[in-house]
This record gives sequence, C-alpha cells and structure tokens, in this order.
Amino acid sequence: MATAAATATAAALATGRFDAARARADFPILAREVNGRPLVYLDSAASAQRPRAVIAAVDHYETHLHANVHRGVHTLSQAATEAFEGARERVRRFLNARSTKEIIFTRGTTEAINLVAQSYARPHLAPGDEILVTWLEHHANIVPWQMVCAATGATLRVAPIDERGELRFDEFQALLSPRTKLVATAHVSNALGTVLPVKQIVAAAHARGIPVLLDGAQAVAHGGADVQALDCDFYAFSGHKLYGPTGIGMLYGREALLREMPPWQGGGDMILSVTFEGSTWNDLPWKFEAGTPNMSGAVGLAAAIDYLEGLGPQAVHAHEQRLLAKATAAALEIPGLRIIGTASDKAAVLSFTIEGIHPHDLGTILDHEGVAIRTGHHCAMPVMDFFKVAATARASFACYNVDGDVDRLIAALHAAREVFA
Ligand code: ALA
Repeated sequence: MATAAATATAAALATGRFDAARARADFPILAREVNGRPLVYLDSAASAQRPRAVIAAVDHYETHLHANVHRGVHTLSQAATEAFEGARERVRRFLNARSTKEIIFTRGTTEAINLVAQSYARPHLAPGDEILVTWLEHHANIVPWQMVCAATGATLRVAPIDERGELRFDEFQALLSPRTKLVATAHVSNALGTVLPVKQIVAAAHARGIPVLLDGAQAVAHGGADVQALDCDFYAFSGHKLYGPTGIGMLYGREALLREMPPWQGGGDMILSVTFEGSTWNDLPWKFEAGTPNMSGAVGLAAAIDYLEGLGPQAVHAHEQRLLAKATAAALEIPGLRIIGTASDKAAVLSFTIEGIHPHDLGTILDHEGVAIRTGHHCAMPVMDFFKVAATARASFACYNVDGDVDRLIAALHAAREVFA
C-alpha cells in the first residue's frame, strides 16, 4: 500500500527535491476537470484529497475484513479487530505517544475537543474558574468551552493576537492564574496559517500546573506532532485533513488524566459489566469509545499516515513552504490584495481579500477557472472580527500542489480583478 509513496520518495531521493508531480499522480481525483479546466485544488485546509493507497486500504477492509470489533470469536471479527487496533498502534507511533491507551478514536477533532470539555473540564470547573483559549481558535475550540462554562459557571478567557495574527505571548502568560483550569489552543490557525508557539505555551501553563489541549487539525499534515516533545496533555486531529477519510479522528490524552476522567458517552464496548443497578467501565482507551467505531475510517487513517510518512513529512513541509512563499510574493503584486495573517511562522495557508470583490464572488470566479479555494469566515468568526473583515478567500497547499497550481491561482485572481474593474 505504501508503493506509490515509496515511488515518490525514491524520486525525491533521486532528484534531491520533493517530487510533487509524482505525489499528485497518487491522487485520482486530481485528474478530473472542473468547469472544463484541469482541477487546481487549493482547499486542503478544509479537507485534503485521498491518495490511491488510502482508497485501496478502505476498499481492502470493506472487501475482505469487515465485521464488528471486540465482539466476536469468529474469524472476520478478529480480523477487523486486528485491523482496527493495528490502526491505533499506527496513530500512536505517528504521534510518539507512550501507549495505545492514550489514543482514542473519535469522529474528528471537534468530537475530541468536546470529549475533553465534557469529561475532563466539566467535573473540574466551578464558578470563578477559567478556561483560556486564544483569539485564533476555530469554532470547534471555542463553542465546546462556552457550553461547559455555561453549565458550570466558569469563564472563557481569550488571549489576544497582534495585527500579524500572532499570539501576544506576554498577554497570554499574564492571563494564566490560579483560576485557569485548562489552556486550549490551536497548534496551527486554520484561518490564517499562524503556527502557535505551542512548546512555550505548554511550558508556561505547566509551570503553573495547568494542563494544555492542542487542536492539531491543521498541524499534523504540515510538519507533524510529537506529543512527548510537545509535552501537551491532550492533542486532537482529524483524518480527513491528513489525506485520510472523513468521520475518523483522534484524541491523544495523557494516561494519568484519562484514567481519572469519567466516560462521556455510554453504550456498548465502553463497559466491563452492566446491571440495572449500575455499570463498570472498560479499560483505556475503550472507556471512551462507546458503540461500534469507524473501523474502515481507522484503517484509512493508518494508510494515510503510512502515505505521508512514505513521502517524508519534512520534505512535504518544505515543499509547501516554497509554494506559500511563491504564492505570497505573486499575490502581493495584485493591486488591492491584502493578506490576512502575516505571521513569521505560517503553515501553507494564504488568506486574503481583494478590494472591491467579495470573497464569495472571488471563489465563484475562480471555480469557473477550475481553481478550488475556500471563502468565508472559515469557522473562525472572531479572527474575522479582529481583522474587521466579514470573510476572506483562502488558498491552502498540500503535498500534491505544484508550481503550476500557484500560477493558475494568480492568473485567475488577475482575471477576477478584470471582471470587477
Ligand atoms: N476547519 C476547516 C477549514 O478550515 C473546515 O476549512
């Protein structure tokens, strides 16, 4: 299954440079046309495309291995269990977690954060306590905390950012207090691409005994994450931003914390025993996985990790950074274009507005040219408010984007300006 990735890696080694065109050929959807033009896909921050290796892994599971997991002595149930638990071990290695007990499968980042909000935060919060987030958060790392604050009388505090879209670290530190019960922050901002100083954030919070959750949805495909090196307490990500399927994601949690946390959903598989008088809970990680899980999704996620690691995450990261620099330089030549988010450390996201053109109109015009970008508030309305814009246009880059994609984006933006001139 890693053959395509291995081929791209071999090509990269031979040329001394990451071969994005080779990687692109691994993604069948990128061969299609949109509106009569070859597709240029620049919306991977919303959802990345899947390589053939992931599609094949899911197909293999569905065709040969599927049955319910942890429930049967029959051959297929054991095969499905092996595939599912093997995927968990693959995720553990990817994140460098200490144990598979620390890897909980979820539907995605959103569900992982809600799990921590309900199972960790809620029992720890009392009126006057605080949860600290940053101004850069996706709604998925704001709303679950608002809900848990409403239920407990705790308060949500927000660390400010500057005009470049960087965290004001001094002010973040000043907001840490004995009232702070948890820090929850993006690893990478989805709306702007800002890479947050997560190691310093964790160190500052831990110095005061405060645990930290990192929302890694936009980080894992663009440089990866090592939870031991980060020393975070919780880490969440989604499969579909990592070239894997939708409906599968993961929560890493420090084992000592997970052990103390109550289950957040009840049902099959998360119990050891059930009577009408009461129930006892399964061991980690299954205590947090009520109901039949998404086995094919987990298998697809493991294949996506194999694929990315086959390409070389650092080579992919360097390639994306080169495309971002090229696109940024060319975009700045476009009259009236304003880049929103100019942090010194950015992932492969170019968020912008063009004077006189609504981002949605821009998105539609680009789509006519076969160029897919995202337009809107990017589920980060506070970020839009901070920059006093209703929406931005956002191009995001992945392993399969090539220089020609940047050229097509820039040409389409020039053409859009002509339409509105
Ligand atoms: N969170 C996704 C994005 O940034 C949907 O587009």
